[in-house]
Amino acid sequence: MTYIIAEPCIDIKDRSCVDVCPVDCIHEAGRMLVIDPEECIDCGACEPECPVEAIFPEDALPEKWEPFVKINYAFPEGMDKVDPLVDAYATEHNVQNSR
Ligand code: F3S
Ligand code: F3S
Repeated sequence: MTYIIAEPCIDIKDRSCVDVCPVDCIHEAGRMLVIDPEECIDCGACEPECPVEAIFPEDALPEKWEPFVKINYAFPEGMDKVDPLVDAYATEHNVQNSR
């Protein structure tokens, strides 16, 4: 199991989550941050820190955000894999997050 960052992070990138992760496994992609599923120890410290509630345990991720499992799991293959997946999702779902 791991934690997953989902749609509300896109174009928001608050980064509060990064400061509390004890294993530094939250990484910045182009339009959002993602959690390295191979490094996350499921401590859960990041979840309550996100002001837009973008972070979920994988088994509690809302179904509509299922594509973010693939997006976060793409991290070990590099941001070259992550960024096109995020762009495709944002285009398909007309994501317009902003502060
Ligand atoms: Fe994104 Fe929330 Fe972290 S907006 S960068 S998941 S604090
Ligand atoms: Fe870090 Fe959150 Fe996992 S704080 S260890 S990414 S549950």
